[in-house]
Amino acid sequence: AALTVLLVPSCTKDDNAATVKIGFSQGMNTDDWRRQLNKSMVIEASLHPEVQLEIKDANNNVQQQVKDIEKFIDRGVDVIIVSPIEAKPLTAVVEKSIKKGIPVIVVDRKIDSEGYTAYIGADNIEVGRIAAKYIVSNSTVNGKIIEITGLKTSSPAYERGLGFSQILKQHPQVKLIATINGNWESGSVKVQLKKLLQNDPDIEFIFAQNDRMALGAWETAKELGLENKIKFVGVDALSTQNGGIELVKKGVLQATILYPTGGNEALRLALKIYNKEPITKNNLLNTIVIDKINAEIIENQLDKVDQQQTVIKQQLD
Ligand code: AHR
Repeated sequence: AALTVLLVPSCTKDDNAATVKIGFSQGMNTDDWRRQLNKSMVIEASLHPEVQLEIKDANNNVQQQVKDIEKFIDRGVDVIIVSPIEAKPLTAVVEKSIKKGIPVIVVDRKIDSEGYTAYIGADNIEVGRIAAKYIVSNSTVNGKIIEITGLKTSSPAYERGLGFSQILKQHPQVKLIATINGNWESGSVKVQLKKLLQNDPDIEFIFAQNDRMALGAWETAKELGLENKIKFVGVDALSTQNGGIELVKKGVLQATILYPTGGNEALRLALKIYNKEPITKNNLLNTIVIDKINAEIIENQLDKVDQQQTVIKQQLD
């Protein structure tokens, strides 16, 4: 069953202020990136006494996510935020919500049409391009590359792959020898990758579309004694324990591309929409490549933001 968290803000409510009901349909809560997204949204919500935020976890089940959004529609929430597990199966229910007059913000992952109110997240095509540029400028002539994608039916997998191939096409001196389809989790790629590496151990870079799969790739290479020969690049760059930045500092990953969660920004955007303020449809968050050179600095900056948010939350609790 889906886990439902109802968050009613703890600061003093102005009795005359209208309650703004915001429903967030989260695809799954199984990884730190998703938990960080929820956390930053919850903290932002607690800064706005008028906001009543409800988060529904679809447990990585598309049918459940459709039902969760249907429930938000039936209940007449003011704004829906959704991080769609897959693009196509979530398209109709998002469009239904819009038809019923409930605005929908898609965060991180998109649906299969433009029929939502606004998108917020990093530009995933650019994420793929940045990763490819980093690899191209750090590889040798005829260097061989393996790409590991996330769930193909989710938009970041398609878009990161698109950006990655756009740049590689301009640089024929590096060779993409295989693309493995994973499902965003570390275990999903191990069997296929092991076979590939056993057949051709002479790989220079592995680009995995997130840090969890990059770690899975590193573990597989380690089993074959290849972990110091191959360089690994991931995406997400969490500053948590075992997050991408830590993995860069430990030398497990050569680099990771920052993929901000957009939780607090999505909540602020929902309020703007509710208040009928002008908004931009496509809201892109900044991204950056992180390697040994800037890992410490970026980690400190991210930690500071996190600490500030935690202090605010403690003061409000
Ligand atoms: O949708 C993209 C991905 O979802 C993030 O990069 C990932 O780690 C999360 O689970």
